[in-house]
Amino acid sequence: MQKKRSWAEPYKIKMVEPVYMTDLNYRIKAIEEAGYNTFLLKSKDVYIDLLTDSGTSAMSDRQWAGMMLGDEAYAGSRNFYNLEEAIQKNYGYKYIVPTHQGRGAEHLISQIMIKKGDIIPGNMYFTTTRLHQELAGGTFVDVIVPEAHDSESTYLFKGDIDLDKLEKVIEENGADKIPYIAMATTVNMAGGQPISMANLKALRELTNKYGIKIIHDMTRVAENAFMNQQHEEGYANTPIAEIVREICDLTDGATMSAKKDALVNIGGFLALNDEDIFDQARNLVVIYEGLHTYGGLAGRDMEAMAIGIKESLSDDHMRARVGQVQYLGQKLIDAGIPIVKPIGTHGIFLDAKKFLPHVPQEHFPAQTLSAEIYLDSGVRTMERGVVSAGRDKKTGEHRFPKLELVRLTIPRRVYTQAHMDVICESVCEVYSNRENIKGLEMIYEPEYLRFFQARFKKR
Ligand SMILES: Cc1ncc(COP(=O)(O)O)c(C=O)c1O
Repeated sequence: MQKKRSWAEPYKIKMVEPVYMTDLNYRIKAIEEAGYNTFLLKSKDVYIDLLTDSGTSAMSDRQWAGMMLGDEAYAGSRNFYNLEEAIQKNYGYKYIVPTHQGRGAEHLISQIMIKKGDIIPGNMYFTTTRLHQELAGGTFVDVIVPEAHDSESTYLFKGDIDLDKLEKVIEENGADKIPYIAMATTVNMAGGQPISMANLKALRELTNKYGIKIIHDMTRVAENAFMNQQHEEGYANTPIAEIVREICDLTDGATMSAKKDALVNIGGFLALNDEDIFDQARNLVVIYEGLHTYGGLAGRDMEAMAIGIKESLSDDHMRARVGQVQYLGQKLIDAGIPIVKPIGTHGIFLDAKKFLPHVPQEHFPAQTLSAEIYLDSGVRTMERGVVSAGRDKKTGEHRFPKLELVRLTIPRRVYTQAHMDVICESVCEVYSNRENIKGLEMIYEPEYLRFFQARFKKR
């Protein structure tokens, strides 16, 4: 029998960027000035930045070389055609509209497909996605499997859709009220959890029965495919590139934040198979993003994206990318830290309700914990709990999600195993002092996506 082997990175480091250490007194001042919101910290005051994996990846030498080949023509840049080809070849969608990032694509698809009073079922909400659906007059309905809301459940495909629940939603509202199902590979808010191929195939059958489209949030589709390969029967010997193609082929269109899987610092796109919807998107993008052959991006950004898409589909890359996340997750589990299980693909999610059981949810335990980790070590994390969930559209009350999490998101190809060890030590240190930690009070609340700019003070 072959012994289990380590997952070392399939690259070597050619250029480094210094980061700076700070002391506790400095960090006390910095977090206070940031209103206890890690989004408002200055990056120079952060030692290890786990705020997000979005746009924070290290590009390869090939991608940087591609940047030098930018064709900055206003219309018809050759980089657009390279990007179009990369998407058609690797993901299989017929038509593409570039956008400045994922939410640009969400905006277009929501404005085109959603009418007032529509229902959009999906496998758990994502902040910007749901807001665009709501701004277009729709209401998001969560139809993810119940295991996804349970941080202790070790179900391997927590991104799966509860098909009985979905069918009930369709029957109750009528298929004509449902412009599409919003299906994400992997589910960020559930802890980076994948959907199974079996579930996706069954979803396709069900939606075919009712004539409903599937719009795919493919932001981390290659990470999802890695989990299918590792854990789903029949996929152990299938390359990630093939699984990704199979996933996309089961859907009708996609929104993409290329700042994740596709290894670029900025960029996204809307991909479609329906020519009519594409025509509308191509028209609308001109108002909000730019001409349909650049969509808010420079030619060089599109070139880097085209190259990043190919790199993201390498089995070796994905084994190391997810391997690093799993390394940190396993260390935290071994230290007895409550995290969402199973370990997801893009980050570790601390269960703040279990970490700080004495802090009630209305005192923002995840926001509090995120600030405490920064204070301890300069490691920047982010809240994914009641602050991110926002207020109910109808009642105006806080939404209290079952999952109150702190996300430690790992940028791709940026940090080393030693960084992972330092992060783990810091979380353990905060855990050992958890009884002394008190909650926060919100003192400033913006109207939209409040987690980005809300301010807090200590209780
Ligand atoms: C699952 C998912 N969908 C959509 C988005 C939005 O993409 P962007 O930040 O590029 O607008 C994100 C970003 O974090 C995401 O994680």
